[in-house]
Amino acid sequence: MFSIKNIFKKKPHPFLHGIHTPLDREFLYENLTVNGNIPSELDGLYVRNGPNPVKPPNERRYHWFLGDGMVHGVKLKNGVAEWYKNRWVRSYSVSKALGEEVIPGASNQVVDAVNTNIIAFAGKLWALVEAGSSPVQLDVNLNSLKHDRFGGSLKKAFTAHPHLDPISGELHAICYSVGKKGRVTHVVISPSGEVVKESPICVEGGPSIHDCAITKNYIVVLDLPVVFSLGKFFTGSLFPYHWKSGRPARVGLLNRHSTSSGEVRWVKIDPCYVFHPCNAYEVNSKELVLDVCAHDSMFASSNYGPDSKFSQFERWRIDLASMKVTKDIIHNKPQEFPRFDERLTGQKYRFAYTVSLGNGSVPGNSLIKHDLQEGKTYEHDFGRGCFPGEFVFVPKDPESGEEEGWLLGYVLDMRERTTLLTILDSNDFLSPSVAEIKIPHLVPPGFHGNWVPTSLVG
Ligand SMILES: [Fe+2]
Repeated sequence: MFSIKNIFKKKPHPFLHGIHTPLDREFLYENLTVNGNIPSELDGLYVRNGPNPVKPPNERRYHWFLGDGMVHGVKLKNGVAEWYKNRWVRSYSVSKALGEEVIPGASNQVVDAVNTNIIAFAGKLWALVEAGSSPVQLDVNLNSLKHDRFGGSLKKAFTAHPHLDPISGELHAICYSVGKKGRVTHVVISPSGEVVKESPICVEGGPSIHDCAITKNYIVVLDLPVVFSLGKFFTGSLFPYHWKSGRPARVGLLNRHSTSSGEVRWVKIDPCYVFHPCNAYEVNSKELVLDVCAHDSMFASSNYGPDSKFSQFERWRIDLASMKVTKDIIHNKPQEFPRFDERLTGQKYRFAYTVSLGNGSVPGNSLIKHDLQEGKTYEHDFGRGCFPGEFVFVPKDPESGEEEGWLLGYVLDMRERTTLLTILDSNDFLSPSVAEIKIPHLVPPGFHGNWVPTSLVG
C-alpha cells in the first residue's frame, strides 16, 4: 500500500537477513544424519570461520566484514561424523556480550571481530582476521583460549591469509593496520610459531591488502585501489575503506631472500581488486605466473559488503626481465574463494577450485574445477536453492597426486533450511557427493575454512 512511511522504509540489510540470518546460540549435535559414506581416512576436523553478530547490530552501520566471528566445525573419525559445533570466537566484545570473563592476551578493540579464517599451525589452531586484531588460539573443541601474538613475537598487525611454504615450513604474510597509510609489513613465522621477520614495505594511502601469494623467490604484494577512508568512517560506516578511482594499481615482487627490508619490484596493472590469489609460481626464472579472482572494482557503492559488478578467474604472467604483465582469462564466470592442493603452494600446479558467485549478497550454486593444464572447466551444480561456500582440497593420502583428493565444504540448502558438510571426490568431480553430513540449521555464508588432521593439533 502506498504511504509516505513506506517510501522511507529501509530495505533489510542484505547481510543480516535471509541466507545471512545470524545464529542466536551455540549448538552441539552428536547424532548427525549422513547420506553416503564418509571416507575412513578422514581423521580430523573441518572448520570454517565467518561473521555472525552476537547481538543484533545497528543495521545502518553494519558491514558484513565486521560481524563477530563464529567457527563451525565437524569432527570426522573412522567414517563417522562425531559432532558439529558452532562457537563464537571470544573477541573482547563477544566475551562482554555473553557476560563472560575476557580471554587472556591483548586484543584490539578497534578491529575486534576475529571472523575470517582458521588455520592449524605450529601444533595449534588459530582464528584469524586482517587489519589489526590479534589471532585467537582455539582448542580442538573450538573454545577460545587466548589472544596470542605468536608468544609475543608479533609486534605489528597480522592477516587472515598467511601462506605456508610447504618446503621451508615457514608462514608468510603481507599485513596492514587500519589507518596506517604509508606502510604494510612482510611477516615470516618459523615452523615453531615464532615471528622471525617483520619487514616494512612502503605504500601510499593505506591499501587494504587482503591476501598475497608466494613463489620460490618472491612474495607477491597486491597494492590495489581499495584504500583507507577517514571520511567514510565519519559519515557513518564502520568499514573505513573505499574504491579510489584514479588511484594506481600495482603488483609488487618482494625478494624473499633479501636481507634489506622493503626491496620490491613493482609492476603497474589496470585498476581492479583481488581478494584472493589462487597459486603463483616461477617459470625458468623468467616469468612469474599468478592466478587470481579479479573484480572490476570493490567497495565503490555499498556500505554493506562486497559490491563488485563483475569478476573472473585470470592468469597474470609477469615477465621478470621487462616487468610487463600479460593477462589471460581462465574463465569468465563470476567466481571466488579459489583453493588448490596446498602441498604445491609456490609451485606449478594443475587444478584449481572456485565457487560461483550469484547476485549481490546471494551466492551462486556451483563449485568449479579448473584443469589449468588442459584448459578445461567443470561445474558441479548443487541445484536451485543450494549454495556452496569455499571448498578445501584434502589429499587422499600424503603420497597421492594432485588429482587424488577429497573436496570438503558447507552447502546451504535453503529449501530444507539445513546445511550439508559435503565431501566430493576431486577425481570424480561431476558425480554426486561421496558423503553429506546434515547440520539441522542454516550456517550463514562465511569466509574461509580448512581441514585440520588430528595428527596436526592432537
Ligand atoms: Fe579471504
